[in-house]
Amino acid sequence: MNDQHRGRLTRDGIRIHETADFKGMHKAGHLAAEILDAVGRNVHVGQTTSAIDQLIEDRIEAAGAKSATIGYKGYQHASCISVNHVVCHGIPGDKIRKWKNDTGRRDDDTLRDGDILNVDVTVIVDGWYGDTSRMYVAGKPKPYAEKLIDVTHDALMTGIEAVRPGNTFGDIGHAIQTYVEERRMSVVRDFCGHGLGRVFHAPPNVLHYGRPGSGPVLEEGMFFTIEPMVNLGRPETKVLSDEWTAVTRDKSLSAQFEHSIGVTADGCEIFTLSPDAKFHPTWD
Ligand code: MF3
Ligand code: CO
Ligand code: CO
Repeated sequence: MNDQHRGRLTRDGIRIHETADFKGMHKAGHLAAEILDAVGRNVHVGQTTSAIDQLIEDRIEAAGAKSATIGYKGYQHASCISVNHVVCHGIPGDKIRKWKNDTGRRDDDTLRDGDILNVDVTVIVDGWYGDTSRMYVAGKPKPYAEKLIDVTHDALMTGIEAVRPGNTFGDIGHAIQTYVEERRMSVVRDFCGHGLGRVFHAPPNVLHYGRPGSGPVLEEGMFFTIEPMVNLGRPETKVLSDEWTAVTRDKSLSAQFEHSIGVTADGCEIFTLSPDAKFHPTWD
């Protein structure tokens, strides 16, 4: 039996990892989180998203690690950078002005005052995947943008609080959905979290909405991401002609936070905690 196939699978195809595997995930998650801390020191008005991506690529290389996204299904960058109404999978770029643009709002890749952005990084360290994303602001955000970021962050943390053996994936989704909808925002349905470990995307699909008690039961040793996307307007999304960039159909602002976690005997370990305690952009 090789390393790839250690541990057993549940009947839903979810891998149950061994205690020693938590160390590998911690190392990968720590590097990804450390890189996102460095990103926080480099988000400024006038900065291009490709400059941020280059910093990420350089840091991954300097750490002797690998980017999980370069070459993944033809994707060519070390990060996804999703600005304002981009929901996820925004492509970093350095265009000052695009010839033709179908995003509806932005016409370049340069950060402007009040922009909000998600930066999503996945690294591979010793074969283990660390996947995390968080929000940043360029200049001074509008109060409603700050509110969206707060609600999305707190929705993720509320979902994580529901993670313990015996609860279900539906309990996680329900906690997130309830938190968001009580605050009159909406949860994106078109993208979800995922199992990970020695692979990038594995079962199950981790939905950010759902009914209590539904879905597979959580067991110690499961590794997965929770990565809710929250919109100020309606939940519907569409993918642009570049075949990656997902935007809100109504062009409302969108935010996302993502942690990689592992289920422990009495809760979970968050593998992607910020070493500088700066996961939330207002750093409170
Ligand atoms: N990191 C993303 C996730 O959370 C996946 C990005 S795949 C890419 O699952 F190819 F778009 F980079
Ligand atoms: Co992910
Ligand atoms: Co990610």
